[in-house]
Amino acid sequence: MITNTELEYKGNLYPNRIVDYKRDSDKLYFTTENGVILEVTVLQDSVLRFRYATEYVFEPDFSYAISETASKGYNRLEVTENKTEYLLETSVLQLLIDKKTLRTQISDLEGNIINEDELGFHWEENYEYGGNTVKMSKITQTAESFYGMGDKATHSNLKGKRVNNWCTDQYAYGKDQEPLYKAIPFYTGLHNGKSYGIFFDNTFRTYFDFAHERRNITSFWADGGEMNYYFFYGPQMSEVVRSYTNLTGTPEMPPQWALGYHQSKWSYFPESRVKEIAENFRKLKIPCDAIYLDIDYMDGFRCFTWDKTRFPDPKRMIGELNEDGFKTVVMIDPGIKVDRDYWVYQEAMEKDYFCKRGDGPYMQGKVWPGACKFPDYTNPEVRAWWAELYKEFMAEIGVHAVWNDMNEPAVMEVPTKTAPLDTRHNYDGHPCTHRKAHNIYGMQMVRATYEGVKKYVFPKRPFVITRAAFAGTQRYSSTWTGDNVATWEHLWIANVQAQRMCISGYSFVGSDIGGFAEQPNGELFARWIQLGVFHPFCRVHSSGDHGDQEPWSFDNEVTDIVRKFIELRYQLLPYLYTMFYRYTEYGTPMLQSLFYYDQEDTQTHFRTDEFIFGKQILVCPVQEPNAKGRRMYVPRGKWYNYWTEETVEGGKERWVTADIDKIPLFIKEGAIIPKYPVQQYVGELEIKELILDVYFKIGPENSMIYEDAQDGYDYKKGQFSLRKFKLVGKENELIIQQFKDGSYTTSYESFKFKLHGLPFTIATIEVDNEEVPLKQIKLNGNNSIEIDKNFTELHITGK
Ligand code: GLC
Repeated sequence: MITNTELEYKGNLYPNRIVDYKRDSDKLYFTTENGVILEVTVLQDSVLRFRYATEYVFEPDFSYAISETASKGYNRLEVTENKTEYLLETSVLQLLIDKKTLRTQISDLEGNIINEDELGFHWEENYEYGGNTVKMSKITQTAESFYGMGDKATHSNLKGKRVNNWCTDQYAYGKDQEPLYKAIPFYTGLHNGKSYGIFFDNTFRTYFDFAHERRNITSFWADGGEMNYYFFYGPQMSEVVRSYTNLTGTPEMPPQWALGYHQSKWSYFPESRVKEIAENFRKLKIPCDAIYLDIDYMDGFRCFTWDKTRFPDPKRMIGELNEDGFKTVVMIDPGIKVDRDYWVYQEAMEKDYFCKRGDGPYMQGKVWPGACKFPDYTNPEVRAWWAELYKEFMAEIGVHAVWNDMNEPAVMEVPTKTAPLDTRHNYDGHPCTHRKAHNIYGMQMVRATYEGVKKYVFPKRPFVITRAAFAGTQRYSSTWTGDNVATWEHLWIANVQAQRMCISGYSFVGSDIGGFAEQPNGELFARWIQLGVFHPFCRVHSSGDHGDQEPWSFDNEVTDIVRKFIELRYQLLPYLYTMFYRYTEYGTPMLQSLFYYDQEDTQTHFRTDEFIFGKQILVCPVQEPNAKGRRMYVPRGKWYNYWTEETVEGGKERWVTADIDKIPLFIKEGAIIPKYPVQQYVGELEIKELILDVYFKIGPENSMIYEDAQDGYDYKKGQFSLRKFKLVGKENELIIQQFKDGSYTTSYESFKFKLHGLPFTIATIEVDNEEVPLKQIKLNGNNSIEIDKNFTELHITGK
């Protein structure tokens, strides 16, 4: 498709020699004799934007992906020229632009090539639709690897693969199947120990070829729109991902309950069944924060209505569930039933809010309720109307959160599975067809939902979940990986997808634990829970027709294992909440794949299974039946086996024992891991004491804990508590310093330090330079001590 077949070659057009150069503050314009203009914008010293116009004309500069709060500003920008090239230099990179061909080459300041054009920008005119197919080809560098691209169900390293982005309802998808629910046209390349990223901000169907068609060429192209991409330089992948995430945005802190365990099924009804499920959680003492109502709560699948036979008094039911610590999350789909007696349909018809086809008729398609029309969420007026529809649900009935599904949009019984391409959209005042609006349709729907939910749950924080997404959707909503299957292969896929989403800027993600289609056996369910509790979004969901999938649906052993791991998640809540804080504040992915964690170690470049949960916990799921453990790669450094407290030296693959009640789990030496007591739901207990698990290390390590009121917005006014810990261990000494920020007063007064791996017996303990009598602070275990939460320095010496 892309470049070098003879036929294509004849069709391709190329820029020729540069005849004009102009600078306008942070923008540079290079115009060629045949009417191509390259606009280079320097956003930051390490972030450049490349945009190409043909026939001298750029499209209006409009993007749904870019965040309003994206950082801007560089330290240095100099442009010089010689006979053959223009040279742009910032404080970290240089860009060469060839005067004859407009091809570009980016290197670091030492002259190491980071990324270079092969054919560079070229295009083909599109006779059928007008405009161009826009193309870019780059030279693949020696031993280059590629990562990212959202929800692709394929090996983490994309080298040798071709993928495309077109949000698709892909029921029971398989490994390597394409495309899936999301379109996130962002990848990172890694070679010679250096990493960069490219975000192709184009909402048409996009394609990426990572040395698949030709071994040394990486290319990307789109069915329309502009060649418009951002380049991010590292050299660390963490910097690349953070820059991309800064550009496309992060969410605000979610309510803490959204990080608890969630239970869903298509569908729990009637009310008595919902209650029975909820009661069982409390009876069996399995923590749970949310229960989901899938489409069957509605009256004939009409959004914003209730089936009054199944749910006669939803307000009362939701209130009662809430008393017992359960939040209720309900589904809302985009398809509005064609029904002249249905108020949502009537309103949208009156206001002319439904999408129309090219020649004027309404776009109509079949979804759950039968024939439906689809609001044009790309119209700001429609979004405002949609947001208001949530008023009764949230403010009056008390629904806590909303789940948007089928928003690719999914259309049944048509081969394309979606709206016809001639469907028209407003696109915020840039009218276009579905070819351009398809990939952001779901994003704009959930954006409107988010606005409505946020407004009507105030002063609480909103929680929203979406299936379809484009780059930037992470600002509004959490997400899940769609209709997976209860197989061991899908457990592998869930692991890869969650990691991939995290390094694509979208951390608030999880899979349907246990599988959506078909039914897992107890062993698969237990293994999947063991992985799922380490995903940012943790929900069991399954389709109705394949049997039960609650923690107690298997045997007692499985129930006990599931309880144990959900309890572990609740203990780790302050750690998980801190991960989220780091994500919102710095764009740090909540899960870090090993190639992200240690890119200098080339052994990590093709690993898929192991990942770092947050900053200091290493997880590796068991992904096959009857396993007593598995081989896994432990990254460089020293790690404590969570279960045995043995330490291992990383940098090699090893066998790790993990019977059915364990998952391979390691803590980085020097880490301080905060833990709450087990609660049945977030906020059940007033936290009286914070446990700090300290893993001794010779040398320094930093840890952090973020806390606030767990809901509401006071944290934005300084009501948060951020504790940074600096640990330094020596042969006979351990020093922990605390640096505190924020004015939130936590409910507990003291820390209970549990010291793991201490190589000496405690002789003295000083808190802020004053010796404390041992019997005053030592707890039952030899290595547990209780200390006032406001300490500045803790100094322990050994005998
Ligand atoms: C779609 C969703 C699934 C949901 C079902 C019924 O298949 O992906 O999660 O249960 O629709 O609403």
